[in-house]
Amino acid sequence: MKRLFEIDPWKLVTHQLIPTEKRLQESLTAIGNGYMGMRGNFEEGYSGDHHLGTYFAGVWYPDKTRVGWWKNGYPDYFGKVINGVNFAGVAIRLNDLPVDLAQVPYDDFYLELDMQTGILQRNYTVELGGARVRFTFERFLSIVKKELGAIKITAEVLTGAAVITMTSKLDSDVTNEDSNYEEHFWEEIAAGQVSGFDYLTVRTIPNNFGIERFTITAAMQHNAKGSFTQEALKVSETFTWQLAAGESCELVKTVLVVTSRDVPESKQVAKIKELYQAYGTDYEALKTEQIAAWGQRWELADVEIAGDAEAQQGIRFNLFQLFATYYGEDSRLNIGPKGFTGEKYGGATYWDTEAYVIPMYLSVAQPAVTKKLLEYRLNQLPGAYLNAQRQGLKGALYPMVTFTGVECHNEWEITFEELHRNGAIIHAIYNYTTYTGDESYRLGDGLAVIVEIARFWADRVHYSKAKDCYMLHGVTGPNEYENNVNNNWYTNYMARWILNYAHESVTLAEGNPLAVTPEELATWQEIAAKMYLPEDEERGIFVQHDTFLDKELLPTTALDPSERPLNQHWSWDKILRSCFIKQADVLQAMYFFPENFTKAEKERNFDFYEPMTVHESSLSPCVHAIIAAELGRGEKAVEMYKRTARLDLDNYNNDTEDGLHITSMSGSWLAIVRGFAGMRTVGGLHFAPFCPADWSGYRFRVNYRGRLLDVQVRSDLLTLTLKAGAALAVTVFDQEIDLQDTVTLML
Ligand code: BGC
Repeated sequence: MKRLFEIDPWKLVTHQLIPTEKRLQESLTAIGNGYMGMRGNFEEGYSGDHHLGTYFAGVWYPDKTRVGWWKNGYPDYFGKVINGVNFAGVAIRLNDLPVDLAQVPYDDFYLELDMQTGILQRNYTVELGGARVRFTFERFLSIVKKELGAIKITAEVLTGAAVITMTSKLDSDVTNEDSNYEEHFWEEIAAGQVSGFDYLTVRTIPNNFGIERFTITAAMQHNAKGSFTQEALKVSETFTWQLAAGESCELVKTVLVVTSRDVPESKQVAKIKELYQAYGTDYEALKTEQIAAWGQRWELADVEIAGDAEAQQGIRFNLFQLFATYYGEDSRLNIGPKGFTGEKYGGATYWDTEAYVIPMYLSVAQPAVTKKLLEYRLNQLPGAYLNAQRQGLKGALYPMVTFTGVECHNEWEITFEELHRNGAIIHAIYNYTTYTGDESYRLGDGLAVIVEIARFWADRVHYSKAKDCYMLHGVTGPNEYENNVNNNWYTNYMARWILNYAHESVTLAEGNPLAVTPEELATWQEIAAKMYLPEDEERGIFVQHDTFLDKELLPTTALDPSERPLNQHWSWDKILRSCFIKQADVLQAMYFFPENFTKAEKERNFDFYEPMTVHESSLSPCVHAIIAAELGRGEKAVEMYKRTARLDLDNYNNDTEDGLHITSMSGSWLAIVRGFAGMRTVGGLHFAPFCPADWSGYRFRVNYRGRLLDVQVRSDLLTLTLKAGAALAVTVFDQEIDLQDTVTLML
């Protein structure tokens, strides 16, 4: 555990700059607006170890796969969102000496990320060449005007005479740390000064895979006129001030970025000109609307926790970073596991979105946001056909890692074997349908996704004559610490559920639009009825896979704490042979379908598997928090909540310097709402709340079927308030309530 920022309900604040933790600081102070995002790099640059990163949603490059031994079927490339034009850079010199905190002494350092407004601020004092100057930096990426970022830098001379120069840059001479062949991914197309702004147009280098090349034009306009210079992949404008003690100067940089995703290359500069006119460059006005827009998001989604300041900061941080990554504006986009905060996982789409993020967005944003995420997969159906074909199978196999629907990850045990992702895609449709009560997507456009995935499973199973049942061999379950197992219970369970759900959906859809044959429907039913689901009757548990119980079964308490996390200390072989579970596997089904299992089943499986679980995927603790809460294990639920809520703020997995765990951030919200408040949405809206012992209360809002509900829980009291929308039936434990305005119940 490592904590850089002070505890505060709405802010990340520190008075210290720790050079060895610079990367961690940059991850935690990343900002984004769904369209673009950047790590918390310093405007003036930093010559010590750090990780410069600016990313543009949907702008990626197919980096040729690099492996030792090629296996047939490997994807040709690993797609990655690439580091793009660094538009925040403003190099500063004071009396001709570089202001670089890795090199020069400084004091009164202060860094703050305000989660209520999305504004990042920093200030410090340096003394160079006889002048003492206080520098203040402020920046934000507008959530109102997606192409716009604004930076304000102020220098105040405290003592001495100062010559200050600021060189404001657009710099595309950037690389990806994870590039397979150390290539530069950008080439320059044009650069210059026009209509009062400087611009740089760059294009991704050619590739051999037929993937579109992206062009970006970035532009900057300032509140002053400087001298313009141009080098390869870079433009800059330099401003100089000569100041005496007591005087100050201010540089405001308004940046606009457009990409070929929205505007063709030949029209980008003209578009920028139009946007500058439409948006203006009045920093204070842009900031005011940014603050108001974040206020509206919080109005729908804020979670308040009374009596636990750490927990409070954790949940807000997670909501803030999720909303900075995605707010449903564009159905061509999805949510990368690291969002805009780092390079790991390549900014691509994983099953994380359907399994962990959609369940939260359904409640904290309008249904249209979730619908966009469902459409994303619908639009990628052709890619999913291709993936199945490449494995010699029918139907659609959604990828583990993708931008286009085509698999772009080359670890065989994941790409070829981690097939359960093809279940989460349908679960999201089910979740959307049961939550909104709107069947039109499932029985309309979404039906193709359901049917094609069912076709995949029907082809991927094989019939075991010996056992007279259907099996799935050679798979990897959610627990990636075991590969190539036979009959992973969770995967088999999902396959069975999908075949039944597809059967039901086709039967309900008017006119059988996809021409599913009666024979096919009968096959789905037959496979579902005879799907092999390993159980151990003596223990009363579902068995993770065929040979799991033959392992040496040890609790995680038997592990030497210095060897954790295992993935940073043990050989892969040792991990594979051990019983230790990376993340929820059998329990994942109980998280997805709480209504399908008895309390006793949940209890026995939780008690068997949780003690062997190391939670080395950030996606793990929330599932356990939810089930523990349902089982009345308040303390365990809170322990798991803390791991998910402060995973990055406290760097639990010792890897936050690579970027934030964006897709697991919804886990803290799920732990509170689905866990502590026991919210369920299948068959109507239910709550079964409890208040963690250390908290004096908590409060959250949910959007549900056109209503906005405010839910407040104290140890002895539940208050439900209908903030907007028509009266609604709600079940609290076993009590039916007709919610008209406010209802208070003793707990
Ligand atoms: C997890 C996967 C997840 C991926 C991206 C891995 O560590 O095991 O379930 O999809 O990270 O978050």
